[in-house]
Amino acid sequence: MTVKQALVWAKEELKVACERPQFEAELLLAWHLGQERSYLITHEADRVDNLEIFQQLIQRRAKHEPYEYIVGSASFYDIHLDVEAGVLIPRPETEMLIDVTAGIIQKEHITRIAEIGVGSGAISIVLARKFPQLHIIATDICEAPLRVAGKNIGTFGLERQITLRKSNLIDEVLEPLELVVSNPPYIAEDFVLASNVADYEPKEALFGGRVGDELLKQIILDVKQRGIRFLACEMGYDQKEPLQDFVNQIGVKYINFFKDLAGLDRGFVIEF
Ligand SMILES: C[S@@+](CC[C@H](N)C(=O)[O-])C[C@H]1O[C@@H](n2cnc3c(N)ncnc32)[C@H](O)[C@@H]1O
Repeated sequence: MTVKQALVWAKEELKVACERPQFEAELLLAWHLGQERSYLITHEADRVDNLEIFQQLIQRRAKHEPYEYIVGSASFYDIHLDVEAGVLIPRPETEMLIDVTAGIIQKEHITRIAEIGVGSGAISIVLARKFPQLHIIATDICEAPLRVAGKNIGTFGLERQITLRKSNLIDEVLEPLELVVSNPPYIAEDFVLASNVADYEPKEALFGGRVGDELLKQIILDVKQRGIRFLACEMGYDQKEPLQDFVNQIGVKYINFFKDLAGLDRGFVIEF
């Protein structure tokens, strides 16, 4: 099969699973060949080496497996991170949480923070690259994220700035902290997710409890009880009201909510 024929075949295979089957077919073929997408245009008549392997990649994508798990890499902020099954694929919405957190770190000259739920390391790695004086203790309750985050931290040479620790929330973090940042699981147990998420991404990274905001509320309580000054979290688009009520009950200095680029409520900063 030539490059041109392989693309025609792949586009047909992907048309149910993908919104942009032609684009994804090109991405996967380019990745398979170890080339840029533009290479495909100038080499339409070339034969595709190891065609069966390419066909297997397309079959995986046709079954809704996320592109990032197939190629083992996700682009986030200004970097690429290794990802694999068991580790959440970092989302563009989370870039907003980083910018908000970076604003506080800069304004308050903060140097000691923790991240709850490190996943691939996306948040901690971008923050550590922005602030070379920053020390981060990054926790996760699962093994796969800790292993993959460790690999990504190594890729960027950030071992001296980011310490990984297996912990429920910040239970095992006894060091003094000025700020906690987290993109915790915040989806309600019965929420119906698209197949590419529900069938492939780790449940521990998605579901926050029956209502969804249980873990967020526990994080707010823990950070307040520990006397840490700031907390910055991502949340679900429909969680502003219950979280506002919750902090009104427990008492905080202020809570500021922020929106994502789609204009949806997406997170908050609390000063205790
Ligand atoms: C939504 S993912 C976020 C991953 C990454 N920070 C990001 O933004 O891409 C949530 C992460 O929290 C971890 N997690 C879930 N419950 C936890 C808990 N009780 N304590 C610590 N980490 C937890 C999950 O394993 C998962 O890696």
